[in-house]
Amino acid sequence: MMEDSNVNGNNIVITGGTRGIGKNVSLKLAAYSTKIIIVGSDPLAGDNAVTDIKNSSDNENVDFIKCDFSSLKQVEQLSKDISKKMPTVDILVNNAGIVSPKHQLSDDRIEKTLAVNYFSHVLLTTSLLENIKTSKNGLIVNVTSDCHKLRTFDFTDFDNSKDYHWMLAYNRSKLANVLFNHELADRLIDTNIKVNSISPGGVRTGIYDELQFFVRLASKLTCSSVDKGANYICNLIFQNLTKGGSGLYYSKSKLKKSCDATYDKNLKTSLWDLTEKMISMKLNK
Ligand SMILES: NC(=O)c1ccc[n+]([C@@H]2O[C@H](COP(=O)([O-])OP(=O)(O)OC[C@H]3O[C@@H](n4cnc5c(N)ncnc54)[C@H](OP(=O)(O)O)[C@@H]3O)[C@@H](O)[C@H]2O)c1
Repeated sequence: MMEDSNVNGNNIVITGGTRGIGKNVSLKLAAYSTKIIIVGSDPLAGDNAVTDIKNSSDNENVDFIKCDFSSLKQVEQLSKDISKKMPTVDILVNNAGIVSPKHQLSDDRIEKTLAVNYFSHVLLTTSLLENIKTSKNGLIVNVTSDCHKLRTFDFTDFDNSKDYHWMLAYNRSKLANVLFNHELADRLIDTNIKVNSISPGGVRTGIYDELQFFVRLASKLTCSSVDKGANYICNLIFQNLTKGGSGLYYSKSKLKKSCDATYDKNLKTSLWDLTEKMISMKLNK
């Protein structure tokens, strides 16, 4: 992993910082004099992660906030809680993610993978924008996957109940992450905020735990370590503190083109508008 003292003094929020890649990224960034809030739905995992991160970094400025991303109301409350603790957010890492072996709906009756991986992160990011704008060099990192290339977006089926397959649902959510990344970067072009997306590649984490035996086996045999996956994300953060553009997609350490659909302005704005309407409808019901 690169080293960069420019990260000192930054206020950082990491969703899904309680386990897997997000916890490892938090550990690495806590080694600097940063202030970190990690977010997850499991309070025990959250408390354990805070203890581990504090012990291994000697950084006392690590906090956990519980939030279940399958509820937009909880995410709305989360953004208020973060704002109180961190009026300025310098770096937001949108990392929390799931795969769901069977079809499930979120509290807001959106297919759960899309709700957790995409909708909640849109709400959190847009709610924290004013906090990020007060940073000298705001950075939003959207953790996605190379799998985003394997799916088109169906705007008519947010609950995804027809022919559900976990992989298609996951790929769709990761495509939505990249579409959001690129559209947000366009909308923030006149600010000092960078918005970039990254696929850490296949990483051996618990995300595969509930899937079929052969998928778990394949992930054990072919995926890289959590440490390596987290390094890609930290390196992107370090680079972006001083240089680099916005609206980009990285696959591991390489700047790549995301799939063609993610540069389609109509698709990006249609998804943005629809997402905004859905979130407002769900929050006001
Ligand atoms: N592993 C891979 O091969 C791979 C490949 C490409 C991209 N990615 C992406 O990398 C990111 C991290 O994945 P990972 O592999 O580190 O997975 P992981 O080990 O399963 O960790 C997932 C994290 O997300 C949080 N999370 C899950 N459901 C949540 C919910 N309902 N509300 C709030 N937080 C929730 C978990 O916290 P709680 O348990 O506390 O809720 C946990 O901290 C994801 O976006 C994933 O799509 C992973």
